[in-house]
Amino acid sequence: MEFRTIIEPFRIHSVEPIRITTAAERESALRAAGFNLFALRGEDVLIDLLTESGTGAMNSEQWAGIQRGDESYAGSPSWFRFRDAVQDLFGFAHVIPTHQGRAAEKILFSVLGGAGKAIPNNTHFDTTRANVEFSGAEAIDLPVAEARIPASEHPFKGNMDVAALEALLAERAGDVPVVFVTVTNNSGGGQPVSLENLHAVRAVCERFGKRLFLDGCRFAENAWFIREREPGQEGRPIPDIVREMASLADGMTMSAKKDGLANIGGWLALDDDALAEQARTLLILTEGFPTYGGLAGRDLEAIAQGLREVVDEDYLRYRIGSTAYLGDALHAAGVPLVRPSGGHAVYLDARALLPHVPPAELPGQALACALYETGGIRGCEIGTVMFGEHALMDLVRLAIPRRTYTQSHIDYVIEVVRAVAERADQLRGMRIVTEPAALRHFTATFAPL
Ligand SMILES: Cc1ncc(COP(=O)(O)O)c(C=O)c1O
Repeated sequence: MEFRTIIEPFRIHSVEPIRITTAAERESALRAAGFNLFALRGEDVLIDLLTESGTGAMNSEQWAGIQRGDESYAGSPSWFRFRDAVQDLFGFAHVIPTHQGRAAEKILFSVLGGAGKAIPNNTHFDTTRANVEFSGAEAIDLPVAEARIPASEHPFKGNMDVAALEALLAERAGDVPVVFVTVTNNSGGGQPVSLENLHAVRAVCERFGKRLFLDGCRFAENAWFIREREPGQEGRPIPDIVREMASLADGMTMSAKKDGLANIGGWLALDDDALAEQARTLLILTEGFPTYGGLAGRDLEAIAQGLREVVDEDYLRYRIGSTAYLGDALHAAGVPLVRPSGGHAVYLDARALLPHVPPAELPGQALACALYETGGIRGCEIGTVMFGEHALMDLVRLAIPRRTYTQSHIDYVIEVVRAVAERADQLRGMRIVTEPAALRHFTATFAPL
């Protein structure tokens, strides 16, 4: 590219106002929310980076699809457009629509999981782990060693540790019904998995006669990283890379709220006829008839169109470039963060930024609250609040909704994070005031120390 400025490859067609708040308003909103950012009202947030799941903007063709949505209970034309869009990219024989990713996980692990089973993954996302464990099975994370080092610049930190997978299968092959690889590895920082690693995992699975499934939520972002970083892949069309990734797997689970570019939706797709039959039976019990699953016809249309747009090179260049723009600017300013930037988010290293706040005093929560109070930015603590004393790191994730914020919004985020980082030594830790029995990060209340 001749010019370096990242431009959004779209014009704005419909705007959604955001309310500019004062520091005093934010302080009182934070207090009323018990210092839990999940308890804030959306309209009190200026830049919402809590998650990029289902929070993106659709384009005019997707809105046109919403109008075209056919709500026939069975055999809707919208279903066939959805099924064809999924099969064009991934090629699996059976496509089972669900209302979001975790519904696909629930169905799959209800069939394949159970007591005594073990399911390895590069890193299970929290709903995946919860669904595996709810079935009675054990969820095992096998990331490469580099994944645990925030400052490491390894290009494929999302990779699975192939030797560890081999050792697990050598010891417990009978217990493993499926091997999973999450692309990109969300819990590991949105880091990609290389094609080479997928081939190596596939070879091990074949040797032991095991199925391989992808958690494909961010398949397009992963494919872009392969094109940019993997030797021999430069310039290759993105749909080609996606097809190769899928050809190495026997099936996938998907949340269309990510690389489906939709606000809701998901699917389970697979080749095995008998397994698909069992999954469809559960689908009818909990989601709906197999030609709509948990979705309206209009949602199926939005996803079908989203899948065409998400593999567009201009979109992906902008998407990955704008996340890196945020990460690189903060890195250059000396703000500690997980390197290199992931596809969908930047992860601030609160433990490194607030060395005077020990993990027990919740440095991630303190930093997330300071970002909100200072500039109305809502991020998400991923650390001691979320994982208790098992947390290896205390991070604040700034997830970037797709096609939603402009470069000036991101410049503002950079300014706010830098301002908070400059007075990091004045930030105090926090304590938990009330907490529920499980998943405390959603509803706990806090107080500053
Ligand atoms: C890697 C990964 N898998 C699964 C899911 C679950 O998808 P959903 O939120 O649509 O249930 C998510 C959602 O954030 C995810 O990031």
